[in-house]
Amino acid sequence: MTLPNVPMKIIAGNSNRPLAEAISSYLGIPLAQAEIKRFSDMEVFVEIQENVRGQDVFVIQSTSYPANDNMMELLITIDALRRGSARRITAVMPYFGYARQDRKTGGRTPISAKLAANLITTAGVDRVLTMELHAGQIQGFFDIPVDNLNISPVFVPDIQQKFAGQDLVMVSPDVGGVLRARALAKHLNAELAIIDKRREKAGVSEVMNVIGDVSGKVCIMVDDIVDSGGTLCNAAQALKDHGAKAVHAYVVHGVLSGGAVARIAASQMESMVITDSIAATEAVRTSPNIVQLPIAPLMGEAMRRISEERSISELF
Ligand code: R5P
Repeated sequence: MTLPNVPMKIIAGNSNRPLAEAISSYLGIPLAQAEIKRFSDMEVFVEIQENVRGQDVFVIQSTSYPANDNMMELLITIDALRRGSARRITAVMPYFGYARQDRKTGGRTPISAKLAANLITTAGVDRVLTMELHAGQIQGFFDIPVDNLNISPVFVPDIQQKFAGQDLVMVSPDVGGVLRARALAKHLNAELAIIDKRREKAGVSEVMNVIGDVSGKVCIMVDDIVDSGGTLCNAAQALKDHGAKAVHAYVVHGVLSGGAVARIAASQMESMVITDSIAATEAVRTSPNIVQLPIAPLMGEAMRRISEERSISELF
């Protein structure tokens, strides 16, 4: 479908209004008038209050906390747009919740990321724009185009500016994140280290093996998600135990549930950089060692390129 001359329209769900407003301002396109509200039993109701017939519509919604409400908002908004005869609908999901459930972890467990992909497709989207999926293969859960943006244009300049001239090691806090850490290490011409967690016997505490040399170096851990903070706090301790000079973290999606912010403040991490793919809570905004970097320019540019049928990979 070629849509270079079809006007873009942007609809914001309720999950992250500040990000939607920043994208709208980057693109110079006002957010479309739409009402997304609840009936008294919390059913979601959506009314798009502008014509969308024949238009190229982007719905911005991270399926972050409350994940299920935000997912339903997204699905129902897509349904409203499809019934309103939008020409093309793109789900812009800076954070794709449920991505962590991307395989069966035991007998009789679901693959909820696949179910989420099926629901979004069935609701009627034509394509999905997201960022740093938990595993790249999740793109294959969809039979429609998925653009999975890479975080390097946001993280690399920040790391270069803050850590210029330092002996850096990029660290993957678990084996699953090696590709992401290696990609950033390559951009920064830095070394790579990996933390390998092992539990030798049930009931015996995990051993954190550090693969690579971190002694006397500034370690930058890279991850897609920080939720409870447990993975990164334990990894930071392991790095310090192995002689790291300092430990910092760059994480794409700050889920930060429960007591995560306090746990991170009390950890061996000197700083943690996250993006605004998920709206910051008051605890995050006032945290002494968590900083948010904006993704609106990257997301907005990708949306513009989708609308104009131009390359997105040129951005990386
Ligand atoms: C796991 O594979 C992910 O990449 C993250 O490391 C994980 O989701 C972080 O969770 P938490 O902060 O609760 O340890």
